[in-house]
This record gives sequence, structure tokens and C-alpha cells, in this order.
Amino acid sequence: MLITGTVVVDAETVIEDGAVRVSGSRIDAVGERASLVDRYPDDERRTVDVVAPGLVGAHVHSVQSLGRGIADDAALLEWLFDHVLPMEATMDADATRTAAELGYLECIESGTTTVLDHLTVDHSAAAFEAARELGIRGRLGKVLMDTDSPDGLEQDTETALAETESLIREYHGTADGRLQYAITPRFALSCTEACLRGCRDLADRYHDVRIHTHASENRDEIAAVERATGMRNVHWLDEVGLTGPDVTLAHCVHTDETEREVLAETDTVVTHCPSSNMKLASGVAPIADYLDRGITVALGNDGPPCNNTLDPFTEMRQASLLGKVDAHDPTRLPAATVLRMATEAGARAAGFDRIGALREGYRADVIGLTTEPTRATPVHDPVSHLVYAAHGDDVTLTVIDGEVRYADGEHVDVDAAAIR
Ligand code: GUN
Ligand code: FE
Repeated sequence: MLITGTVVVDAETVIEDGAVRVSGSRIDAVGERASLVDRYPDDERRTVDVVAPGLVGAHVHSVQSLGRGIADDAALLEWLFDHVLPMEATMDADATRTAAELGYLECIESGTTTVLDHLTVDHSAAAFEAARELGIRGRLGKVLMDTDSPDGLEQDTETALAETESLIREYHGTADGRLQYAITPRFALSCTEACLRGCRDLADRYHDVRIHTHASENRDEIAAVERATGMRNVHWLDEVGLTGPDVTLAHCVHTDETEREVLAETDTVVTHCPSSNMKLASGVAPIADYLDRGITVALGNDGPPCNNTLDPFTEMRQASLLGKVDAHDPTRLPAATVLRMATEAGARAAGFDRIGALREGYRADVIGLTTEPTRATPVHDPVSHLVYAAHGDDVTLTVIDGEVRYADGEHVDVDAAAIR
């Protein structure tokens, strides 16, 4: 298959009149349209305005899809303990599957081809099955909560770890490698020290399993961690083994100088969730400073109740605009930086090789955008277009691992209307 249009190879490289050739699950050629059409005249051809790498949602909660609009105007701890956790506690396997399907459909049709997904405590297998069915690439994880949690979610430490291990054995590396596992302690406040250390032990015992958790999102959360442990949140996570290149921490809005040093020294990955941080009034994360220190920062929409949209283009735009206004400096978080966060940095955060760019030999996770005439933006600078003008609705083609999953407004081989 040849996908033709203005090709955004990566955040720095654009081919004006280009084409990407997909063969099996890989990209096997990228170049000028005329030359690829010449070389592969018999290939099926799909034409879009902009061809881009599939985007990576490096912190989502697909299973919160049924909670959109819950506690719209609350801050983190009230929002979580009074509204979101009680909702998660009521979810059975059917509800979990439907919620995950809805989340993944929304991701696929708006350009996200890979997710790092924070599930809930129970019925995680239903979300893995949803991901397998819809073909999204994902690193998913059942949530561990073994203290200070509502009825219906709190488990004893051994059960939480044992269920995690059995899901690793069942799903890690399945669906041709599209499904991987992230051990997912919810956050420091809902896990005992034994649980957090147990997460590190498990991660060390299974090849290529990562750790994914929330950290330092809100000042009240941080104060509570400090009361419980005597340490700042990142120091506590470091103490129990939950920093390092195999760890992705969502948010990191409020960190002090010494915590930032730990994040940089341990090569821990951070996922920035700007819309969620604004909606829950958590604060403005110091992303430009993290990047200056060499910390890898990816991008995530977080859950539908703390964002209301899983559109990755909105998230890129929010990240850039917030970075600029926070620094009073329009050169901070420029479009290319933010696109890199949503692609190559996301690939690192989610722990997948050879995604996040359109290069020969990379996995064929490719999206195509067709600009609506009513919002026609001349594509002078396609990277600028993707970050400052494009919307998920502009996505007219989504290919994951070489399979067309969404084209011209329809999901392929999936009855999306029945799910909805
Ligand atoms: N911290 C712990 N759990 C959650 C959650 O579900 N959402 C957000 N935004 N932060 C959390
Ligand atoms: Fe979250």
C-alpha cells in the first residue's frame, strides 16, 4: 500500500510531495511520491493531505470512558475519592470492556495508534481483549491498590501482585507484540511500601515489562505522601525502586530541584497531561525545565473525566500553548518539540521500539489527515499545522501494524455503532 501526501517523517523532516510504502506490518520505503509510484505502480494507493506517524497516548485511562462529565469542577483528591474511584468500583467485566472499546475507538479515529493505559483493579482482561479486538498497540496494566482505598477496589498486597503476575503471563507480548504489560500501582497514596517494592521485583523478573504510575500531580496529594512517608513523592518512589528508565510517571506537576535531579539521573520518563492538569487545577508542570535537563517527556490525555477528549491534537496544542504562556516566551515548547513528545518520546514512555516516526523498517503505524475545506489551512509548515491547527476529526486514515483500522469515517471490520 502507498500512502501519499505531505509526509511528516518525524518532527524535523518533511517530504512535501511524498509517499510511505507499507508492506506487511512494516514501512518499507519512504520518499518522493513520483519515485515510489514509479517503483510500485501496482500498489493500492491512498491519498491524504498529511501523512504522519501514529501518535502515542502515553498516559490514558480507557476504562474511565464511561465517566466523562463526572465531577467536572473538582480537584484531584475529591474528584478521585468521591467520584472516580466509586465509579471504577461498580464496573463489571462488561462495563470494563465497553469502556475500553469506547476509549480505543476514540483514540484510533483521532490519530492515536499506541496507548500506555492505566486500567482499573478488576476485569483488566476485558480491556486487553478490547485492545486485541480493535488492533490498537498498547501497554496496559491492571491497577494495584492495597491501602486507603474504597471498598470494592482495595485488595491485599499478595492478591494485587499475584493478579498482576498472572496478567503479565497471559498478555505480555501477545497480539504479534502489539500488547505489552505495564505494572500499574495507582499512586503512592493507595499502595503500601510492600506493594510498591513488589512492583519493582516483578518488573525485574519479566523481560521488557515497564512500570507506570501517577506522581506529584497535586499539592494535597504530595503533602499526604510526605505525611505518610516523610519524603517528597519522587524521593519516596526512588526509595522503593520506582524510578529508572523502565518507569513512566504521569504528571510530575510539582517537583523540587532535588526531585528533578533524581528524575534526570535515573532516566525516568515523565508523561505530561496538560489538559488534565488544567481541568483539575493541578498546576503547570515544568516541562521545558525537564527537557532542558534531558528528561524524556511524553504526552497523554489522561482519563476522559479529567479531560473530556482523547484527541491527541488538542493535547499537543495545549502542551505548546501552556509552555509558551508559562514561560512568557514563544520559543518554549515549539511545535516540533511537542510533536516529538507525542511520537518518539511517547514510544519510549510506552516502551515500544520502531514506532513514532515514518522510517524504513519501522512498524507501520501511520495516520493520514485530510483538512476540511471549511478550516482549510495552507500546509506551509505541516508540523505547525499538526500542532496548532489540526484536530482528531481531520484524521481520515489510521493504520496500525500495517492494518487499516479506520478509513474515511469508518472503523474497519468493527461495528463501532453497536459498541456505542
Ligand atoms: N491519581 C491516582 N489515580 C488517578 C486517576 O485516576 N486520575 C488522575 N488524573 N490522577 C490519579
Ligand atoms: Fe491519570
